[in-house]
Parts: sequence; structure tokens; C-alpha cells
Amino acid sequence: MACSSRALARLEKIWTSKLRVLPSGVATAQQRRRAASWGGIPGAVANSTLSAVHLSPVSVSSDPSPIHIPDTPVEPHKLVESDIQDLAKDIRKELGGRHVELCDVAAYYFDGQGKAIRPLISILMARAINAHLNGGDSFIKTSQRQLALVSEMIHTATLVHDDVIDTSDTRRGKPSVNALFGQKKAIIGGDYILAKAGAMVARLNNDEVTQILAQVLEDLVQGEFMQMGANDGTSERFTHYIGKTFNKTASLMAYSCKGVAILGGSDESLAEMAFQYGKHVGIAFQLIDDLLDFVSSTQTMGKPAAADLQLGLATAPVLYAAQKHPQLNELIERRFSKPGDVQKALDCVHNSDGLEQTKFLAQKYCLEAVHYANTLIDSSYQKALINITEKVLNRSK
Ligand code: FPP
Ligand code: MG
Repeated sequence: MACSSRALARLEKIWTSKLRVLPSGVATAQQRRRAASWGGIPGAVANSTLSAVHLSPVSVSSDPSPIHIPDTPVEPHKLVESDIQDLAKDIRKELGGRHVELCDVAAYYFDGQGKAIRPLISILMARAINAHLNGGDSFIKTSQRQLALVSEMIHTATLVHDDVIDTSDTRRGKPSVNALFGQKKAIIGGDYILAKAGAMVARLNNDEVTQILAQVLEDLVQGEFMQMGANDGTSERFTHYIGKTFNKTASLMAYSCKGVAILGGSDESLAEMAFQYGKHVGIAFQLIDDLLDFVSSTQTMGKPAAADLQLGLATAPVLYAAQKHPQLNELIERRFSKPGDVQKALDCVHNSDGLEQTKFLAQKYCLEAVHYANTLIDSSYQKALINITEKVLNRSK
């Protein structure tokens, strides 16, 4: 199971110093395995500020054989069906206002077709925490469910803005909000969702939760900017990627889990456990998302395949593939901008173990999430939190 963070920090230091003596991108197979086991890759510098904050100390193992996530025959969606079923409807109600078209733009993605993974995790965490604190009684507070709604609203607002930035024409198999209403209305619609979410947070009347959600917004914006940043410096690339992944994806999951824990009356260490669970699941979720971009068809994902490469983004599968194919580094630096670059990068990824390594890293993060969930008392909700990690790893869209 998990090592103590001090032991992990020591191991990170040891491996970083060992890796540093090698020319960038060169490492023994053993070093490569060990580096992958804590989330780094050869040449990655693990002691930057970002890594201290965000590079998760996933559990250390020198054996990269398949990881087993404990079997929990609990169906998370079924378990919280009554909390989730009216989620989109309730959000649309919150989005009501004077201007009909603005409400239509804002409500467009709340059609019940999304994965709703953030509210699902938040609600499971809320009920698991409540059971933990109240002798097994796993009720949910209205404020906790409201926070689950807020997490989906923040997520959706970022998607609306993201589709403008990425000039996406489709999302979830239908025309994107910007394709339908135009760029300007989409941007304002995203702002409107955020404004409504902000008002809901204010109504929770909890300063700590308000601060947490402000942090999420900052992280999201920082993450998007990190993604736009320069792609040079091979050695820092993976650290930067994991940091960006935390900001763009895991922060919202981590802080939503922490928020519901605080609203449930958790002390600092229990709230931290909730945060860590959400963070590890969130990073794993994005790793699998980045993997699926290489293996899923447009039809399955509801958006163009290899979209990340087309946008100039180097995600985990490419970064791992660059270890075997160093010629990829040049393409990464120029963001796959020359004709033929995208195809070349695709070929390199498929002709390397980049996808396997990405999956393996996601498994490590999930295993760590399981470790955190296991610190809660046994309940069907706690088991469902474990089951979620399976779903995150094995999803196909
Ligand atoms: C999806 O990324 C985008 C995000 C998870 C975050 C985007 C953040 C912003 C646009 C910053 C603005 C922030 C706020 C608070 C409105 P993706 O392009 O990898 O996913 P996709 O393939 O689903 O489009
Ligand atoms: Mg996008």
C-alpha cells in the first residue's frame, strides 16, 4: 500500500538525483520503471515548486506488473440515483433568469447526457463521510448536494469556454454551444453559469468552502494557461503536464470532495483525505482521457479523435513515446504544427509503450485513491468510491 509521504519524498529525491546524472531522455529500464512508479519519467525534475504541490506521491513499487483494484460489487450510479436523477433539471432551474436566450445558451450542455462524474463523486464522498462521522448513518445535507451541483456547473462553464478556445464544433455528439450560438454568446453564457454558481456558493454561507471554490477557479484558469505555454525543456515536461492536469481536471474534483467533507463536519485530516481521494481520481481520469484521445473514434467520444495532437498538445502517451522516439521532442516543441506532424506523432505513440505506461500511471493514481477511501469506515458509499476508480480506468468514453 501507500508509503509515508516522507519516504516517498526521499525516494523521489534519490531517483531524481540518479536520473539527473544521465543525459536527458536516457535511463536504464529499472530507472524508467521506478520513475514511472511515482509519476515521473526519466529526465523529469521532481523538485520544482509544482511537483511539491501537485506531483502526487503515488505509491512506490519496483514491479510494474498489473495493478489490482479491489473488487467492489457496488453500482455507484444506482446507489445515489435519487440524488443524481434530477441534477440537470435542478441546475437548469438555477440558471433561470430574465433573458430567455441567455438561459438557453447557459442550459444547453445540461441535457442529462454528460457523465456527471464530479457530482457523482461529490455525493458519494458526502454520504461516505456522513456515514463515517455518524455511526453509519449516510444521509446527505442539502448544502452538500448543492455543492455537487456547483461542481457540475463550474465544470460545464469551463467546457463552454474551452470549446470557444479550441474552436470545437461538436461536444458529446451534438453541435457545440459556440457552433450553435456563436463565440460571443457562448463566452457570456459560460460567464453566466459561473455567476449563478457563485451565488449558490454564497448561499452555502461557509467561508472555507467559498475560499476552496475560488481556488478551483484560479487553478482552472492557471491550468488553461499552462496548456497554452511553451513546450520546450524536455526535462520539465512531465512535471508541467501533471501540474497542468491537476489544475485543469483534478483540482475541481479534489476541492469538491473536500468541500462536501467540510460541510459534513469533517476535521482537517478527514477533509484532507477527501481532497487526496479527489485529486488522485482526478489525475487518473485525465490520464485516461488523454489515452482515449489516441484510441477512440470520433463516434465513441462525440468529438474528433486525436484532437489533442491537432491542438498542439503533448499529453502522457506522447511524452512517454518520446522516450523511445526522441525525434518526437522537436514535434512537441513546435506543437505538431508542420504538415504530417500529427500523423508522425500518432505512429510513434502506437509504436511505443506510451499508452500502456499512461494506463499504468493512471492505475497507480487510482490505487492511491483507493488507499484514501479505505481510511473511511465501511459503507456502500465508501465501497462505491473504490468502484469509481475501476470505472475511471476502464471507461471507453
Ligand atoms: C477541457 O479540456 C477544459 C477544461 C477541463 C478546463 C478549461 C478551462 C478554461 C477554459 C479556463 C476558464 C475557466 C473558467 C473557470 C471558466 P479539453 O479540451 O482537454 O477537453 P475536451 O476534449 O472535452 O474539450
Ligand atoms: Mg477542448
